[in-house]
Amino acid sequence: MNGPKQSFGGSWTAEKLERLRKYLAAYVQIMKGRPWCEAFCYIDAFAGTGYNLPKPKDSPECESTLELLPELSAPDTVEFLSSSVRLALETKPPFTRYVFIEKNPSRAAELNALKHDYPELSQRISIHADDANARLRQICDSWDWKKRRAVLFLDPFGMQVSWSTIEAVARTEAIDMWLLFPAGIGVNRMLPGHGNISEAWCRRLDAIFGVPESDWYPEFYKTGEPDMFGVTPRMKTATITSISDFFVKRLKTVFDSVAEKPLTLATDSGTALYLLCFAAKNATALKIAKDVLKP
Ligand SMILES: C[S@@+](CC[C@H](N)C(=O)[O-])C[C@H]1O[C@@H](n2cnc3c(N)ncnc32)[C@H](O)[C@@H]1O
Repeated sequence: MNGPKQSFGGSWTAEKLERLRKYLAAYVQIMKGRPWCEAFCYIDAFAGTGYNLPKPKDSPECESTLELLPELSAPDTVEFLSSSVRLALETKPPFTRYVFIEKNPSRAAELNALKHDYPELSQRISIHADDANARLRQICDSWDWKKRRAVLFLDPFGMQVSWSTIEAVARTEAIDMWLLFPAGIGVNRMLPGHGNISEAWCRRLDAIFGVPESDWYPEFYKTGEPDMFGVTPRMKTATITSISDFFVKRLKTVFDSVAEKPLTLATDSGTALYLLCFAAKNATALKIAKDVLKP
């Protein structure tokens, strides 16, 4: 493996990976004792390079994220070695299959090098240089899930995961989903105090919540009666907690087992970035996830 590379992400990055590591370790122990399950897979839909987290400032898709949260670009910069795909590859006993999706072609090509680092697993790894939403929906809708199960890790920089993808995941009734929901880095920043949200941001928020503006707006703003000039007073009421509660409520419309209290991942200075969320069909999975999510 290469030596340490400079990257972004401080203790929240380590925290996210440590929670994932704990869940994967418990998951494989349980699945190996279920002979009916012909395959238990690990799917990483925003896989990165496998060596390190890419610097967001080098990534065109992250420009909007950095506009929203410039704190990300500097203060928590650390030497960081691990990555979600490596954690999965190092989990023992191994998964039956590893699916890594990464849109950036050069990062996807770097993922290929993992086959040299883990030669005993190389036949089990498939890498897709694709959009996560499109490829995941295709996997969810075309695989036969009767005797297959999977853990899915969704670790986007920003607002990339569409609600329709989450619905496709839930429909399989076979995938345990971990998702970094961009409550602070995305949603909260897209809800300005004055309450006039641009058309483009409204459509992004519709896509991430899977409901129209008329459903999510009242969750985050209080509106009064129009004044004599016809102007409706608006007051932002959204907090990270109310965004979390609303998203958990949305997850519960499609999954049976949802962690009520996602873990807030924040910068060292306390700015909330993401919520680490968990949803699955299976109640046992939720029990383990709740343990993993304990603060
Ligand atoms: C936060 S990083 C993932 C980090 C990785 N989980 C780790 O532990 O190192 C997000 C990755 O998603 C990729 N990405 C961004 N948009 C994507 C999309 N629509 N589909 C697939 N991958 C995407 C980026 O190129 C980036 O490598």
